[in-house]
Parts: sequence; structure tokens; C-alpha cells
Amino acid sequence: MTWNIDIANVTKRFGPRLVLNEVSVSIQSGETVALLGPSGGGKSTLLRCLNGLNTFDAGEIRIGEHVLQPGNHAADLQAVRRVFGMVFQDFQLFPHLSVLDNVIEAPIQVLGWPRAKAVERAEPLLKRVGMAGHLHAYPGQLSGGQKQRVAIARALAMEPRGLLCDEITSALDPELKHEVLEVLEDLKRDGLTLILVTHEMGFARKAADRVVVLCDGKILEDGPPAQVLEQPRTERMKMFLQRVLG
Ligand SMILES: Nc1ncnc2c1ncn2[C@@H]1O[C@H](COP(=O)(O)OP(=O)(O)OP(=O)(O)O)[C@@H](O)[C@H]1O
Ligand SMILES: [Mg+2]
Repeated sequence: MTWNIDIANVTKRFGPRLVLNEVSVSIQSGETVALLGPSGGGKSTLLRCLNGLNTFDAGEIRIGEHVLQPGNHAADLQAVRRVFGMVFQDFQLFPHLSVLDNVIEAPIQVLGWPRAKAVERAEPLLKRVGMAGHLHAYPGQLSGGQKQRVAIARALAMEPRGLLCDEITSALDPELKHEVLEVLEDLKRDGLTLILVTHEMGFARKAADRVVVLCDGKILEDGPPAQVLEQPRTERMKMFLQRVLG
């Protein structure tokens, strides 16, 4: 089973607003793709479509054996949601649960694992993200970088094929960004597919094998980071880069 992603002519409207306009892009299993572009361009919407959190109006998304189309049933969306874990800018940890309890919650509730099995799997994951010393801390006692690493461990606890990350370093200081980047690099070495929405060109450059730029609901550029960020093909991308790089 390969877990390639094929997005074909996906169109999504919110009321009269065309947010994704016949977007087509393929991502190979194990690739790390940075998804960039101006605010409002549709990046988060596309991630949510990939995870079955948004439906769309036309087109098709294939993820391994799963096919997403307009009019999917809830069960199809549930199944595809297991393929990728999602990680958000604001962590979305449960504040009333300890680090360990945050990580074992979904395996127990969704996969029906006994607590002992969930704990046995969670501990090495938390060790992997450098959080083994904080199992019983609460999110309010952690730094942003620590919270984000717990959020990554929580996503990994569902044994996904990859992670969809929406601006996961935007709220972090440079040093903490680096911690998160190291975790992503480790996951990449393990062959997980990573799709990273980011506004940070340096992060995209360091982390990604490939950069895809989404602008006004369309793919503007798609290629290796050095090419897209240093020799963009389109005037629109040159303008975007001038603005973000100041
Ligand atoms: N639930 C919603 N209802 C109505 N409009 C929405 C909804 N979610 C997003 N939109 C609109 O869709 C467009 C794309 O939004 P999206 O969040 O995907 O952009 P983005 O590229 O992630 O932007 P940013 O970089 O600011 O996060 C925007 O115009 C936004 O206002
Ligand atoms: Mg967004």
C-alpha cells in the first residue's frame, strides 16, 4: 500500500467566494512539502480538505486507497482522517489533561485501546519528541515549543502515515522553532509524509523537499525550494517574495 496523495481539480466555495479553484497537485508518500502563499489563498482550506474536515464542491482527492469526492459519507471522512495527523499553530492541547493523558486520549477513545497499551505506546513517542521528562506536567506549565512537541506526539499516537501541519512554528521563538524542526526532520527520516503550511521562507527552505505555492485558490508555483524561492517563474511569486522578505 502506498500513500500517495492525488488532488485533482478540487474546487471549493464558501458562499460566493471561490477558495480553491481547480487545484491539482500530487504528493508522493514520504515527501515533505511546504505549502506557502499569501494570506487567504486557501492553504488551511486545502489541508482541511485533505483531512476530511472540509468537504469540497468538485474534483477528487485520492489518498492511498481512500477517495474523497463531493458528497462523501461521514464514514469515508472518518476513515481518511486516520491517515494523517493534524497539528495546529495554537497546539489545541486539552488544558485539563497531563501531557501523557493528552497523548493517550485519542487511542483510548477512538481506537478503543486499553489504557496500559496506550501508555506503553505513548511513552516512546514522548521520548522521541524530547518530552519524556514531562509526562505528568500540564500544558499550562510548558513552553510553546514543548507544547508543540506534545501536540506532534499526540498526532503520532494515532499511527498516521503523515502529518498536516498548519503554521506550527508561527507562534514560537527562533530557538523553539528549531526544536520543532528537528522533530520534523526525524519524522521525515522515518518516511512520514509531511505537509507544512508556513509563512516562514527559512523554515520552508530548511524543512521541505518541495515548495507548492497556493495563491487566490490556484497553484502558482511548484518545485524544489531553491528554484521556487530564488528563481520563481511567475511575477506574482516574485512580488509575494519581495513582500515577505521585506
Ligand atoms: N469557514 C469558512 N467560512 C467562510 N469563509 C471561509 C471559511 N474558512 C475560510 N474561509 C475563506 O476562505 C479563504 C481561504 O482561507 P484559508 O484559511 O484557507 O486561507 P489561508 O491560505 O490558510 O490563509 P492564512 O495564511 O491567513 O492562514 C479566505 O478568504 C477565508 O476568508
Ligand atoms: Mg491558514
